[in-house]
Amino acid sequence: MSLLNKLNADADTSETSWSKTYTETKEVAFFVSNMDDRITQDVRHFLQSYSGIPRHDIVEHVYRIREKAWAIRAYPCTGFALFLQPMLPLNPAYPFILERVRNEGANFIDVGCFVGQDLRRLVFDGCPPSSLFGCDIVNHWDVGFEFYRDKDRPFGKNVKYIEDDMLHPKTKNQSNEETLDGDVDMKLMDWKGQMDIINAALVLHHWNWDDQVAVCKNLVRLSRGPESMIVGCQIGSTGKNVMEPHCEENPYGTFQTYWHNPETWKSMWAVIAEETGTKWEAKAELKTFDQIGWRASDWWYIGACSRVLQFVVKRLE
Ligand SMILES: C[S@@+](CC[C@H](N)C(=O)[O-])C[C@H]1O[C@@H](n2cnc3c(N)ncnc32)[C@H](O)[C@@H]1O
Repeated sequence: MSLLNKLNADADTSETSWSKTYTETKEVAFFVSNMDDRITQDVRHFLQSYSGIPRHDIVEHVYRIREKAWAIRAYPCTGFALFLQPMLPLNPAYPFILERVRNEGANFIDVGCFVGQDLRRLVFDGCPPSSLFGCDIVNHWDVGFEFYRDKDRPFGKNVKYIEDDMLHPKTKNQSNEETLDGDVDMKLMDWKGQMDIINAALVLHHWNWDDQVAVCKNLVRLSRGPESMIVGCQIGSTGKNVMEPHCEENPYGTFQTYWHNPETWKSMWAVIAEETGTKWEAKAELKTFDQIGWRASDWWYIGACSRVLQFVVKRLE
């Protein structure tokens, strides 16, 4: 067994280890200290109109919140301020998702929801907060309340959020974590079979093939049945699929992360369908960073073949 394989076999792969260790420093390739130009007109408009942040306070507010998020976990989506631009509206299925959640009572869950930017976008676009659910392994949720100032508004009162691990999800009965009022916390698998739309944005790429299969099988368990959808995006590649460290600052090599193209994505879903006795139509597209509005120059450290894979997976049976 190679050293890398041994490290992978020994590692707890529920969460990337680098996202914990790099919180101590900003000297990493995926942190830009000046993000003024990423606080776009759209971002300002949202923070003014949804959150009620006065115009002159917006820049300071965004910098302060990013500090807090970085102190929890060090991710490129924080360091490059990607969380300012929700990914969900860029998904080709977004109009259909809005239709189903806004007008047909569909339940929507965001797994790896971070500060809840995609969920806020849905509410801003008219979806009822009571149809929305979020899950993350670690609490960025409270920073989200501070960012969007909506803890005591319909979002904070009605969106259901839990902390759990999507690789090894539990039910309430398997959990011994107590809430402040002595009740036992809900866990991800308490929502088994209840979700119509599942969003997994910028998270599956943390894992190798086997763990991505395991996570997606858990997402299948959450899905209600035929017509459920799994949507999202992740880093993909037009070149080699198994990323190994090719420069010191590249964090993604640790678990031999698997970066898909549309064909491997389809193959992975054939395996998931077979192993869960379900049937899915899996579509994906590779987009350049420019195409989705990110700065291509940020991503030098993960190589010229890297792209964003946008996906829509529909349950047929
Ligand atoms: C890179 S961030 C992406 C966040 C957000 N979805 C977005 O589009 O910006 C990955 C998120 O997944 C969460 N996460 C990582 N491993 C997880 C796991 N095993 N279970 C649940 N959430 C996890 C992280 O805490 C983080 O909030």
